[in-house]
Amino acid sequence: MSKRIVRDDKSLYETKADAQKLAFAPLAFHAALALRDLGILSTLANSGPTGFSAERVAQLAELPLYGVKVLLEAGLVCDLVALEEDHFRLRKLGLLVLQDAMTRANMDFTADVCYRGMPGLGEAVKTGKPAGLKELGPWSTIYEGLAHLPAHVRQSWFAFDHYYSDGLFPAALPIVFAHKPKRLLDVGANTGKFSKACLERDADVNVTLLDLPGQLDMARQNIATTGRGARATYHPIDFLDTTREFPKDQDAIWMSQFLDCFAQDEIVSILERARRALAPNGRLYIVDTYWDNQEHAAARFVLVMTTLYFTCLANGNSKMYHSDDMRGCVRRAGFAIEREVNDLTLSHTMFVCRPG
Ligand SMILES: C[S@@+](CC[C@H](N)C(=O)[O-])C[C@H]1O[C@@H](n2cnc3c(N)ncnc32)[C@H](O)[C@@H]1O
Repeated sequence: MSKRIVRDDKSLYETKADAQKLAFAPLAFHAALALRDLGILSTLANSGPTGFSAERVAQLAELPLYGVKVLLEAGLVCDLVALEEDHFRLRKLGLLVLQDAMTRANMDFTADVCYRGMPGLGEAVKTGKPAGLKELGPWSTIYEGLAHLPAHVRQSWFAFDHYYSDGLFPAALPIVFAHKPKRLLDVGANTGKFSKACLERDADVNVTLLDLPGQLDMARQNIATTGRGARATYHPIDFLDTTREFPKDQDAIWMSQFLDCFAQDEIVSILERARRALAPNGRLYIVDTYWDNQEHAAARFVLVMTTLYFTCLANGNSKMYHSDDMRGCVRRAGFAIEREVNDLTLSHTMFVCRPG
């Protein structure tokens, strides 16, 4: 069942202010980033309830007064800081930009991965190609380039990816291991975090990791550190090559935050291959975040904005889906959904599927 989407109607006065925030959003974004990265927000966080004057901030942060003033005034109109008398202090928004892990992961992802390429969005929409990707490298999808991105871009991409995955693994493991799988296929295994957690959880499970070669090299290195590498097999594959079948006889097939990397016809092809790879009593576990299935406005906003990254930078034809789109792909591929876990985490949904 979809969670409710709350609407509110604003006055024209408020809407006009919203329109200007949008008009200057890229500038406001960089002001917030500079306030954070130049240490101005952390200086204010240590100022106590009365705050600091701009002069004191400049002195403590060791920055020119002019620059500190322009950023603090930008922070004022963006609700990051408050001004009383001549003292600035942090507001809740400033504190979140400084300390909240989700806000940091999203801002770094936007700044390092997305920002330079996003002007290509219109072309991407017209062509179905990730027109902004050329700002990062000469690949046809970002996945080909992940292992070769400049270090700070790669760091921000993985921090973003892992922020939205790490919390779901502990919630998912008891569901997957309730059926005691002996052979598990981790499809789109990335750096191998889920496979590693499976190997640690159950000494009898063998995992096979499927991904592009660059990602599997990272996974192999990570899993080698656990001393459990003998139960892991690495299977390099490009899922877009529809002739590439998956290793057979799997008791469990795992796909987390993966199918949103593909267009719907591609998803159906991947799921059909997964169906052919299942052992007779095997199950497919799909975990994803669906924009219609979010209780919180912030989560829905993050998902729909993330879609623009897929459109403009990742591959030009995938998105964060409505849950009905995914149910449709699952059915088209010859699966039935045995169980839906809508509250796996605050924002993730799990479909447990069997051929049917
Ligand atoms: C968003 S990451 C998700 C990773 C992981 N399952 C998780 O939950 O964090 C998607 C993964 O799919 C892989 N991928 C995307 N397109 C691919 C393709 N055409 N062939 C092989 N792997 C692909 C990427 O390399 C990446 O590791």
